[in-house]
Amino acid sequence: MTHWRKQQQQDQFFRRAKDEGYRARSAYKLLQIQNKFHIIKRGDVVVDLGAAPGSWSQAVKKLVGHQGRIIALDIQAMEPIPGVLCLQGDMTMPEIQAQIIEASGGQVNIVLSDAAPSTTGIKLRDHVLSIELGYAALAVAKCLLRPGGNLVIKVFNGEDLPALIHEVKLAFHPVKLHKPEASRKESWEQFIVAQGYKGGSGVRN
Ligand SMILES: C[S@@+](CC[C@H](N)C(=O)[O-])C[C@H]1O[C@@H](n2cnc3c(N)ncnc32)[C@H](O)[C@@H]1O
Repeated sequence: MTHWRKQQQQDQFFRRAKDEGYRARSAYKLLQIQNKFHIIKRGDVVVDLGAAPGSWSQAVKKLVGHQGRIIALDIQAMEPIPGVLCLQGDMTMPEIQAQIIEASGGQVNIVLSDAAPSTTGIKLRDHVLSIELGYAALAVAKCLLRPGGNLVIKVFNGEDLPALIHEVKLAFHPVKLHKPEASRKESWEQFIVAQGYKGGSGVRN
């Protein structure tokens, strides 16, 4: 058995995900963000970007209940989840962003992005690509969110992060940078948790 495999099997969140039917251990990162910030409510309309294999959408489905709606997007194909509208495409492309906007009807309470580039080990490159995905999530959120809506963006830490946080702060209040316990210590991912979309600025970029 490889070292990686052993680590996975010993990982409590990996085991819990298996027991509780989540497709990935990432579900617990979102659930821990939810426990701390209470960003998702019953009946909410949620857009889940970088959604495959689908554990965040699975967790969101339980939180929003039957009255809620979820639109999930990934660049990769995703196994269907009952009650979740799954789209495939690149979230940085304007035509795909237009598809998400059309599918959601533009009245969204939460935009989530757990999107991450395939990592190469070249830290600067991975960081820059992650920040690019972060800006794409912010652009989608500005087009879709109702005033008061919330946004969560996963980012790989690095020198361009403060500029992204600055942009998020122009549109949301409060904005926090958070690392849930389920995020491995050795991972350089962090989550921007932005609440209270100010809306109404007319800025749609
Ligand atoms: C960490 S995984 C997401 C895990 C997911 N939240 C879950 O709980 O199952 C990151 C995802 O981002 C997706 N991704 C990366 N770049 C993307 C892009 N440009 N557009 C859409 N999805 C993208 C990847 O295909 C990958 O499935």
